[in-house]
Amino acid sequence: MAEKSFKYLIVGGGVAAGYAAREFVKQGVKPGELAIISKEAVAPYERPALSKAYLFPEGTARLPGFHVCVGSGGERLLPEWYSEKGISLILSTEIVKADLASKTLVSAASETFKYQTLIIATGSAVVKLTDFGVRGADAKNIYYLREIEDADQLVEAIKTKKNGKAVVVGGGYIGLELSAALKINNIDVSMVYPEPWCSNQMMYELKRIRYAVICGRVLWAAIVSAYMYDFTVPRLFTPEIAAFYESYYTNKGVNIIKGTVAVGFGANEKGEVKDVKLKDGRVLEADIVVVGVGGRPLTTLFKGQVEEEKGGIKTDGFFKTSIPDVYAVGDVATFPMKLYNEIRRVEHVDHARKSAEQAVKAIFASEQRTSIDEYDYLPFFYSRSFDLSWQFYGDNVGDTVLFGDSNPTSPTHKFGSYWIKDGKVVGAFLESGTPEENKAIAKVARVQPAASTLDQLAKEGLAFASKI
Ligand code: FDA
Ligand code: NAD
Repeated sequence: MAEKSFKYLIVGGGVAAGYAAREFVKQGVKPGELAIISKEAVAPYERPALSKAYLFPEGTARLPGFHVCVGSGGERLLPEWYSEKGISLILSTEIVKADLASKTLVSAASETFKYQTLIIATGSAVVKLTDFGVRGADAKNIYYLREIEDADQLVEAIKTKKNGKAVVVGGGYIGLELSAALKINNIDVSMVYPEPWCSNQMMYELKRIRYAVICGRVLWAAIVSAYMYDFTVPRLFTPEIAAFYESYYTNKGVNIIKGTVAVGFGANEKGEVKDVKLKDGRVLEADIVVVGVGGRPLTTLFKGQVEEEKGGIKTDGFFKTSIPDVYAVGDVATFPMKLYNEIRRVEHVDHARKSAEQAVKAIFASEQRTSIDEYDYLPFFYSRSFDLSWQFYGDNVGDTVLFGDSNPTSPTHKFGSYWIKDGKVVGAFLESGTPEENKAIAKVARVQPAASTLDQLAKEGLAFASKI
């Protein structure tokens, strides 16, 4: 088969790839120099839409509406944009082999791609219950959500199982966003998770431990037990924050079942899921199951060829890997978090966008023998569900204080939390903030001002952020 050769090649066609393409054009890439290879059939889009407006019965988001870079208020890059700029968008093409020494990638259809500079932007894959051999987890109508095809299947199931019952497995980002989306579609939702309170993970070290255990072929039940009792893992929601969301969801009619896990699934004669068996003995009826038990960075193609750390591909502050001319960005990169003098991996969209831009700037700077500043990232996470919307900036370490009105039945429900370490405020969370208030908490996390007493901080609340 013919071999194709490009000066710059991006493997993966998600958020980071799209933002990288825009930066390549800003930096003056010439027609024919850049290609993006993606397993997906569509041009890069803002993945967060899949768990939100894509699933709504009204005001539904559909492509081409949410191609990158609309998520950050930028230009929408339609498929035509890539052809106008002379960028090859090679879609529905999975790379199955990578040889970094000979600078060659090979697709599932045996096409060969050569490059001078490679950007790895393969993102994450979902962790599946079948990976652990959970009984019946291969039944029909058990869904995961990562790519647009998954979302389309879920939309179809919501239509087919109108007014049916759903069980959502997992109390993280997917669990919280999908429970809300299903409820909005008039589905009867039960949400099941092992922890004592719902939480989104901040750091992904735990998953590494979990995979190590899995590789050791320990039983799923044992893994889950270990997981359930490991409360030392830094999780974003404090018990107080979680209590608000749990009550809010309960008031919306979501049935929350905590402290247990799904250990098996029953199916009808058509092979469709009909119930979920929990470890505590309960059995929940289900027409649809949605599983959100975490993601894992897609680094397999490069195993043994590039240095890895904390489950991802190790990079410097310019997203250069241990191999010359190979960069890694987005979910797969483990990079120096300058602000905390630590190396970390981040599975969120803001970092995917910014790391991609940084890598492209670094590529051009190195070609032009100029220099750019090292990546100096302030962690930023957000989520939206029902009429709620929160933002978090910084680090969730140290003591916490809650401020504002966290009564779930209050019409304003504006509240937040600060994290205080070594006398400084290092992290801030805000539900229902205005753009100015969100900007103010971001500034707090960046500046790390000295904290007064915790009581004083709780009393001042947002006023503390506004004066920084
Ligand atoms: P991304 O996953 O976007 O792209 C990777 C691409 O590589 C995919 O197109 C994939 O098909 C392709 N690929 C992988 N292997 C390949 C191979 N071998 N060959 C060819 N192509 C390959 N974050 C946030 O901050 N706020 C939010 O609200 C949300 N919401 C959200 C919802 C849902 C449903 C998901 C799944 C994720 C989020 N996120 C989020 C997380 C955020 O979307 C995520 O961190 C970024 O998309 C990561 O961008 P990447 O480009 O690294 O991977
Ligand atoms: P997550 O790490 O946020 O949550 C995983 C959850 O799995 C845990 O909170 C736990 O409750 C649960 N869990 C583990 N084993 C379980 C079991 N056996 N039964 C029930 N629950 C179990 O991961 P996720 O929610 O699956 O998200 C996947 C990826 O998508 C992540 O990279 C995430 O960052 C991304 N995402 C982000 C957003 C956002 O930032 N707003 C939204 C959606 C998805």
